[in-house]
Amino acid sequence: MLKLITTDTFHAALASGEKPWQKNYLAMYSTQWAGYVTDPALMLVPADDHLVHRGDGVFDVMRCLRGKIYQMEAHLSRLERSGKAISLRLPAEYGDVREIIKELVRRGGERDCLIHVVLSRGPGSFTSNPFDCPAGQMYINVIRHPRYPEKYYSGGVSIITSRVPIKRPLFATTKSCNYLQNVLMKMEALESGHPYAVGLDEEGNLAEGSGENIGMVTEEGILKFPGFENTLAGITVQRVFELAVTLVNEKVLKDVRLSKIPLKEAHGASEVFLTGTSIQVLPVVTYDGLTIGTGKPGLVSKKLLALMEKDVRENGDLLTSIDSDS
Ligand SMILES: Cc1ncc(COP(=O)(O)O)c(C=O)c1O
Repeated sequence: MLKLITTDTFHAALASGEKPWQKNYLAMYSTQWAGYVTDPALMLVPADDHLVHRGDGVFDVMRCLRGKIYQMEAHLSRLERSGKAISLRLPAEYGDVREIIKELVRRGGERDCLIHVVLSRGPGSFTSNPFDCPAGQMYINVIRHPRYPEKYYSGGVSIITSRVPIKRPLFATTKSCNYLQNVLMKMEALESGHPYAVGLDEEGNLAEGSGENIGMVTEEGILKFPGFENTLAGITVQRVFELAVTLVNEKVLKDVRLSKIPLKEAHGASEVFLTGTSIQVLPVVTYDGLTIGTGKPGLVSKKLLALMEKDVRENGDLLTSIDSDS
């Protein structure tokens, strides 16, 4: 027999049972309530939001360190571009998104966190018809930044080539909430004992990981990244590219470029690394079971990680204080 839950019993029903995965959730804003909650049990999205049953929405994730949000404008521009790509109507509240994000982080109570911003088609029906939805919605979650094992950085990680087909360009370059390929790629990696998998395009060139871009250094000292036709233009990889130019000036690298990278070339690289908002620059030491370089994190990866860490902490041009008004 199903138990009927009413307004009076709903909150008790929600609170029942251990939900350890919620321990890192700090705060959520929703246009549904035009307010925020800090109780993870209340961090809910309506089942009839087309985000839930059709993946009809877009998102972006940014990082806040010591009360400063890194590259907030770049992330919001990408979010808006993603929304435009699927003709999403922005909720009126989006006009205040910067202030909402800053206040939400403050309310969450921790100055180091990740900020997930989701724009959805909104509630309307249980069909795939987007015109059933009268208004787009915005959901923002502030969560603790995940801790990666120290050995990932000191020893490097192993990756595999994914067999999951990558997304077609429109879907790869739009950060939609339709991440099934990415999910299957992650599952494939973890089930085979590796933390990350990287996909290939139809010609067998490197594409990207389930939530990260990839870079490689050739034997001759050229740093290459796959272009952004078939992959998400990561905010991090674009900044890593700029920082790598300083390594070219210092003669640590010969050049840095976007280029097609056949899998065979990556297997023979002197360095490979993954890069993204959360992991920053993560060295790869084995690829499909083959040793990369010396089998230890390489000089370029280490230098780029140090440059990124400095940028996230100190580059005033790219930081937005959660305490500032504008
Ligand atoms: C598929 C995919 N590629 C690459 C990235 C890296 O992008 P960013 O550096 O903006 O985090 C992400 C993460 O957002 C992603 O989901």
